[in-house]
Amino acid sequence: MALRSNLDPAPNLLTVPDAAGKIKWTDIFGNNHAVELEIGSGKGTFILAVAQMHPQHNYIGMEWAKAYCDFAADRFRRHGLANARMVHAEALWWIRCHVPDNAVAAVHVYFPDPWPKSRHHKRRLIQPEFLREMHRILVPGGQVRVVTDHAEYFEWIRTVFAGQGVLAQIPFESPLPQEAGGVVGTNFEKKYALEGRSFYAIAAEKGMNGVTSAPAS
Ligand SMILES: C[S@@+](CC[C@H](N)C(=O)[O-])C[C@H]1O[C@@H](n2cnc3c(N)ncnc32)[C@H](O)[C@@H]1O
Repeated sequence: MALRSNLDPAPNLLTVPDAAGKIKWTDIFGNNHAVELEIGSGKGTFILAVAQMHPQHNYIGMEWAKAYCDFAADRFRRHGLANARMVHAEALWWIRCHVPDNAVAAVHVYFPDPWPKSRHHKRRLIQPEFLREMHRILVPGGQVRVVTDHAEYFEWIRTVFAGQGVLAQIPFESPLPQEAGGVVGTNFEKKYALEGRSFYAIAAEKGMNGVTSAPAS
């Protein structure tokens, strides 16, 4: 699946040897600005927008489809983004291997694959162990943010969020300026908006003392 023929993703592609263990962000970005992750970046549209809006934040997108990963990294290069990288990997595995404790300001998950058949539900990204891993990597006050168009998956996600005791639910606020419209501005959001689909959003944060600051609701 080639999206363009003349891609040069290398400058914005982050490749970490499996044996390297946990990463120091300063080794990657040369600064200690806050780092945000996006899981399942697709063509990288979300990070492309927010990395330009917030040059004082660093962004890492994770995408297991190589063609999309390369396409997104190439876009970041063409826009001269020093604060954005793509990683070609299964996101949760990569996080477990390489992301240190208390190191991430936000995790964005926009339009995750819904795996609608019951026998495939175990493949869904949002599971109790996913939120425990988010709690491990988030800084105190750090957030996990999810948007989906899939009503049944959203009910699943709400149940998972409500059933854990480590992150406190908070209102979801769009990271985009109001005049931009939309919720998070990704490619799937734009496509589904044209089809008139509804969107469902949820967010939770790690307490400032590193434990849950309020009961999940
Ligand atoms: C429905 S698409 C949404 C893409 C983008 N977030 C958007 O809203 O336009 C889901 C994307 O997540 C990727 N993906 C799903 N699970 C993943 C995982 N565990 N690790 C990395 N990428 C994943 C898929 O390859 C796909 O590109």
